[in-house]
Amino acid sequence: MTVSEMAGRWSARAAVYKDATARATLQTIPALLNHALLFPGARVLDAGCGPGYVAACANLLGSDVTGLDFSQGMIDQAKEQFPYLEFTLGDVEKLPAKDQSFDRVLSNFVLFHVTDPILAMTEARRVLKSGGRFVFSQWLGPDKSECYRLLFDVLERHADISRADPAPNAFVLSDEENVAAMMQSAGFSNIRSETVENVLHAPGSSFYEFFVNVGVRVPLILEKQDSDVKATIHSEIDELADSYLSDGIYEIPMPSIVFSGTAI
Ligand SMILES: C[S@@+](CC[C@H](N)C(=O)[O-])C[C@H]1O[C@@H](n2cnc3c(N)ncnc32)[C@H](O)[C@@H]1O
Repeated sequence: MTVSEMAGRWSARAAVYKDATARATLQTIPALLNHALLFPGARVLDAGCGPGYVAACANLLGSDVTGLDFSQGMIDQAKEQFPYLEFTLGDVEKLPAKDQSFDRVLSNFVLFHVTDPILAMTEARRVLKSGGRFVFSQWLGPDKSECYRLLFDVLERHADISRADPAPNAFVLSDEENVAAMMQSAGFSNIRSETVENVLHAPGSSFYEFFVNVGVRVPLILEKQDSDVKATIHSEIDELADSYLSDGIYEIPMPSIVFSGTAI
């Protein structure tokens, strides 16, 4: 899938982001900001800003923020929600910014989706001043996440995953040793990490249908399956998710991890 096709998929989700994906991603922002060690007037890039929540929080803390996303739909949402902030179209793997122009690069759940995460880290390093900080977050994988375990258990039993376009294994970014090596090779030191115990709050009567709106990778696998296989996956996911349903809301643990490092 090309970069512009991926950006198009995100744009298609932009209008529902607040009611879907944000129900899990917002919970990581306090830890992300904690690692950022912001200061008044800090030049901050929110790389892969989506509808702009990280940018808005950093701005509230006195930073001078630019949000960047490759999806026009997301940029439109961000401008609508936070019209007093600057948002710009761009790719985190090829940042449209000068060397050493930022004090902080923050990226909430974005590297999970890029083609080459080391390239995105190297770009973050390039635009940071020496001593600046790069902070990003990532979902933990099925070994630690009840949500991903539930989904992948069912998918692995029924789906022909080889039918989906080959994608890099996004969960390499959940492993602390791997990420430390990647960040070091991109030019960061003083690498730290912290787990956040996110709980996804999904309203509705079908967890399957909710996740099809939230996810990007899981729907890519589902689209390629025959309709009878999809129907089996749908009913098994909903059956397993039932034990998490209370008062019309699925509350499913979906932990994340925040990584931070200092530009050498
Ligand atoms: C899960 S959303 C996170 C949005 C936001 N950071 C937040 O926490 O609400 C991932 C975002 O990354 C953006 N994205 C994915 N790949 C990108 C790339 N290569 N360059 C720029 N943005 C990208 C998507 O358009 C989407 O807005």
